[in-house]
Amino acid sequence: MRGMDDHAKPMAAGQEDPAHPRRIRSFVVRAGRMGTGQVRALQKLGPQFVLPFSPGAVDWDSVFGRRAPRILEIGFGMGQATAAIAQARPDVDFIGVEVHEPGVGALLKLIGQHDLRNIRILQHDAVEVLEQMVWPAALAGVHIFFPDPWHKKRHHKRRLIQPALVSLLASRLEPGGVLHCATDWAPYAQQMREVLSAEPTLQNTAGPEREGYAQRPDYRPLTKFEQRGLRLGHGVWDLVFLKRANLPSRPMP
Ligand SMILES: C[S@@+](CC[C@H](N)C(=O)[O-])C[C@H]1O[C@@H](n2cnc3c(N)ncnc32)[C@H](O)[C@@H]1O
Repeated sequence: MRGMDDHAKPMAAGQEDPAHPRRIRSFVVRAGRMGTGQVRALQKLGPQFVLPFSPGAVDWDSVFGRRAPRILEIGFGMGQATAAIAQARPDVDFIGVEVHEPGVGALLKLIGQHDLRNIRILQHDAVEVLEQMVWPAALAGVHIFFPDPWHKKRHHKRRLIQPALVSLLASRLEPGGVLHCATDWAPYAQQMREVLSAEPTLQNTAGPEREGYAQRPDYRPLTKFEQRGLRLGHGVWDLVFLKRANLPSRPMP
């Protein structure tokens, strides 16, 4: 596809790429119960705010009806942080990606309650969205808040923050763009710090005096779950990395 890099070889629907066998997913789609408000929001607002997964370069300016900095969030859960941040930053557009349908309904409900215009939702694997619907250097930011920690060792391969995904994320960020992750699971925080620090195109905003972890930026609201954890003395770690500017251009393949 024109202009897309190695991370984005589009495949025809249903076709399996022999070079990239079926991938390990970072999620399991659970059958969740939808509340009536969520169902109603899905029916009423879904057509306007939920985009279909359609491989190919998307004209995000026409999707949002304007040109604005764009932040993509992986796994918005029930969407509270997404909605709060989008409400506080009307000058920025947000692409929320989540596979869990009740979460999609919940965020749509918040969109309706707060009359938010700067969010669009994809109910799909965010890795495929990034690979196939987002141009390189198209994003001003990526948010990954409390990704599933996959506690058991045999499940660690399902964790989102792995070198290949981080390299893909970095490729989608514009120079100076922000990758913000947060977790409440200490071993995952360490893994995040190691993997993000090893990506040569990213730079940590936090120094050794904070052991490489950032102070929670004001824009990220504390979730109820997080507030409870903090009351119980559990830790939360934010990691904020910037896409380096002035990188040497990649050699042509
Ligand atoms: C532990 S929850 C955290 C939700 C939310 N960010 C929060 O802070 O409450 C992680 C969410 O990520 C979603 N998720 C995991 N991998 C994903 C992927 N590859 N694409 C889209 N959503 C994903 C899961 O469905 C789940 O809802």
